[in-house]
Amino acid sequence: MTWHATALTLFPEMFPGTLGLSLAGRALREGRWRLDAKQIRDFAADRHRTVDDTPCGGGAGMVMRPDVVDAACAAALAEGPARPLVYLTPRGRLLDQALVRELSAGPGVILVCGRYEGLDQRVIEARAMREVSVGDFVLSGGEPAALLLLDACVRLLPGVMGGADSAAEESFSDPRGALLEYPHYTRPVQWQGRAVPEVLLSGHHAAVAKWRREMAEAATRERRPDLWARQAGPQARTQD
Ligand code: ADE
Repeated sequence: MTWHATALTLFPEMFPGTLGLSLAGRALREGRWRLDAKQIRDFAADRHRTVDDTPCGGGAGMVMRPDVVDAACAAALAEGPARPLVYLTPRGRLLDQALVRELSAGPGVILVCGRYEGLDQRVIEARAMREVSVGDFVLSGGEPAALLLLDACVRLLPGVMGGADSAAEESFSDPRGALLEYPHYTRPVQWQGRAVPEVLLSGHHAAVAKWRREMAEAATRERRPDLWARQAGPQARTQD
């Protein structure tokens, strides 16, 4: 079965967007995954095609109606095997590589993109949506977050990434926990008075591996103390 993504959105023209220009776009044209963007407004019942209303209790902005969003979800779910519903919201759990791996290993995903103040809480609960955030900042809508999630999932699909090793070697793929990547260098060996680190030119594979691990650990410790603290025994790493 082809991995199937459906975006429920008020801006279907945003899909596949710039994703269509890269690796994921080529994979889409090659039929390695499927993408549908559905206009939520098409599921509105009234002749004005109303999708939102003012928040109960007052306050700024508009809230997307549960009945309209629910009908859009039902239409997406009716297509093929059951897929998880993911609602992109800054209130969600943070997207990480573990969730990306889980989603890309399944049949696909239904991405619910909110605008305005978001969705009525009841449809989130009734449809058991997984609420996912892509970072501690606020976007004007879920669409860029959905595209980001798709990029991360699609590159893990069979036949999408070129070198099989590059997916396995990079940051966040280590089962003991995530480390940031070591720095990369290529030719020329001398550039603007800066040299490629000697060890990388030594041809000594064990020394290169050791240097890269040390650089990855140093970067993680300095830049992401939160990730470093979560390591399965960061001390144990220096021994392997
Ligand atoms: N919608 C608005 N901001 C968002 C975020 N940070 N993550 C996911 N969806 C969003």
